Amino acid sequence: MTEILRIREAADYVRQHLGTADICIVLGSGLGDYDEALTNVRALSYSDIPHFPVSTVPGHAGKLLCGDLHGKRVMMMSGRFHVYEGHDLRDITRPTRVMALLGVKVLILTNAAGAVNTGFYPGDLMLISDHINLCGKNPLTGPNLDEFGPRFPDMSNVYDKELRNLAQRVAAKENILLREGVYTMFAGPCYETPAEVRMARILGGDAVGMSTVPEATVAVHSGMKVLGISCMTNMAAGILDQPLSHEEVMETGARVRDKFRKMLDGIVTDLTL
Ligand code: HPA
Repeated sequence: MTEILRIREAADYVRQHLGTADICIVLGSGLGDYDEALTNVRALSYSDIPHFPVSTVPGHAGKLLCGDLHGKRVMMMSGRFHVYEGHDLRDITRPTRVMALLGVKVLILTNAAGAVNTGFYPGDLMLISDHINLCGKNPLTGPNLDEFGPRFPDMSNVYDKELRNLAQRVAAKENILLREGVYTMFAGPCYETPAEVRMARILGGDAVGMSTVPEATVAVHSGMKVLGISCMTNMAAGILDQPLSHEEVMETGARVRDKFRKMLDGIVTDLTL
């Protein structure tokens, strides 16, 4: 079966069971329960959607939800797919293609990341201004899906400038410190070495993480606008004299939950589509 047929089958299934939406929010570590904010909600397990991969990470439930949020129709992906799980980038980004076919105009990507910028602190939120792809792969490799976008897409405004301005306005209104910086993607699953973190900093990175870049790339190729927000769950490896752990990442994620939710509430409320 060709990729476009897989995407269409998945999109038809989602449309039939959940309807459509204008906004999709991908919930990263720590934001997993933001789906509670949806009303008139309908949900599907990823395992029920044709051609969706199945998430294997603890804390990533693997559900697609659709409902109302502050007067908008919103899909939420609770659980995402990562390169380190062994998925192909085309599989990881198929849900993003499905969102494009369903008419989603704005994709909001959230994640947990390690702070590379030594001026940041664990618990800070960072608006992604741009990214560096160091995962060694690109989700657009292979035959171009002409239905979605061109072979050589422009990447000079991946994280939409107007949406970033909107996020900064919301942060100011809510009195939330919102950093802004470059997200550097490594494939994982191991955390980076201190040398890799120094390299990321020299290259211009402010944060390191293991997601987001594939979805953002495919969203731009599909003509969607993208907003990305990272939660700095820890200082990246080698900055502090202590090892990194998944528990620390989850704990900080839980601590900033309310701040992160406020940001998303404000952004969805103020978004004009
Ligand atoms: N590195 C990569 N991914 C991460 C980190 C990190 O330090 N923290 C949370 N996700």
